[in-house]
Amino acid sequence: MSDDLGPASLPHYTHGHAAAVLAAHARRTAADCAPRLLPVLRPGLDLLDVGCGPATITADLAEAVLPGRVVALDGAPAALDAARATLRERGLDDRVELVGADAQALPFADGSFDVVHAHQVLQHVADPVGALREMRRVTRPGGVVAARDAVYSAMAWFPRPPALEDWRRVYTATARANGGEPDAGARLLSWCRTAGLTEAAPSASTWCYATPELRSWWGGTWAERVLTSFGPQAVDAGLATSADLTQMARAWRRWAEADDGWFVVVHGEVLARR
Ligand SMILES: C[S@@+](CC[C@H](N)C(=O)[O-])C[C@H]1O[C@@H](n2cnc3c(N)ncnc32)[C@H](O)[C@@H]1O
Repeated sequence: MSDDLGPASLPHYTHGHAAAVLAAHARRTAADCAPRLLPVLRPGLDLLDVGCGPATITADLAEAVLPGRVVALDGAPAALDAARATLRERGLDDRVELVGADAQALPFADGSFDVVHAHQVLQHVADPVGALREMRRVTRPGGVVAARDAVYSAMAWFPRPPALEDWRRVYTATARANGGEPDAGARLLSWCRTAGLTEAAPSASTWCYATPELRSWWGGTWAERVLTSFGPQAVDAGLATSADLTQMARAWRRWAEADDGWFVVVHGEVLARR
């Protein structure tokens, strides 16, 4: 594993790297998060995962392309620490390089990789088209650029207490105040075209939380994230009060306990050929 962690930091990353956030991201798998990309992977391809977070997805992708070169890149030291732990646990620490850098200025030569992937990252980047241009630049001709992001305005749920609408309003306002775009999934195709990725295949897929175990996890993580992740930023920005955060966290816990609770997360995806 490379020690090239660089000086990168992300003062405006809306989720931050609180324990609840890293734990939520660490549940992710390539099967859940990169369903269109997995079928095009094969051993020997060189792959870059941009904004790897705790790198559970990277580890799955690595298992599909090794002995190709695999690089996991993130701008946040806390994410890289979590990635290092995952890779060690998965026995991949010698096989995957870790790099600290900004997605908008990738520290690689043109045409360095066959596959460049970013999951739930472009929604947080101030210049997503610039990041996609960089992803295209470091991809070899004929290679693949793959991205997937949520569409917060399309998320749907039941029951629908007003405090959960407040959650969506406050989260999306905070993300936009940080220069992000919480409906990034709907814009990926447009951003790809602007970035010169003209051969981009769009698709959509969902996560659904409706069993007691999944409701308990999803409601619990958001209850905690309201209080420890984006919520404090919202208060600092004057977008919510501490009392609002308490109401939202309580509403998430109640939602998780509802026998008929249901939540769907909508994602937009692109798989583009360079
Ligand atoms: C929502 S997490 C997704 C992590 C991982 N891809 C996953 O889905 O589990 C977004 C990640 O992107 C990173 N990130 C955000 N903006 C970035 C930027 N400009 N450059 C590099 N990494 C960035 C964050 O540090 C965070 O780890």
